[in-house]
Amino acid sequence: MSIALVPGSFDPFHNGHLEVVERAARLFDSVIVAALRNPQKASSLFDLDERRQMIADSVAHLDNVDIVSVSTLLVDVARDVNASAIVKGLRAVSDFESELQMAQMNRSLSGVETLFIPTSSKYSFIASRLLREVARYGGDVSPFVPPPVQVGLMAKFEGEQA
Ligand code: PNS
Repeated sequence: MSIALVPGSFDPFHNGHLEVVERAARLFDSVIVAALRNPQKASSLFDLDERRQMIADSVAHLDNVDIVSVSTLLVDVARDVNASAIVKGLRAVSDFESELQMAQMNRSLSGVETLFIPTSSKYSFIASRLLREVARYGGDVSPFVPPPVQVGLMAKFEGEQA
């Protein structure tokens, strides 16, 4: 059985992430989406449990996808779920440098391979960092995120005066 592990910070999960998960779900028997801490990112908007719940609600239409949220090394998750490969989306060349470095480190640590899926150009400008900013100042994020994430963002900033 082939198992893809799709990791990310997912703070929050957006339509570009969803597209990668949907495409991985067509290529692999099973997909595990892992919401993890990225120690390079100082603070987060949503805690890991909130992210796991929003992702689960966003991928409810995919019956071969499960979600985990853990604060550990990605290679440990890959071992625990017996992943065949890590799958990540690439939006642009600017993503490639850090993604290549992480892929090489993860392979050196554990032997796990990383496969890249180029995101559709219609999603290539979407970034969680920008969505947090747009939502914080009351902008409409509905074209860019699944409905459960829109609800989560609105709840997070409800009553907040920019
Ligand atoms: O969505 P992101 O921020 O690009 O995802 C990065 C993420 C969360 C996959 C990466 O930071 C990660 O793997 N974090 C878990 C800790 C870990 O394994 N670090 C070593 C990476 S080589």
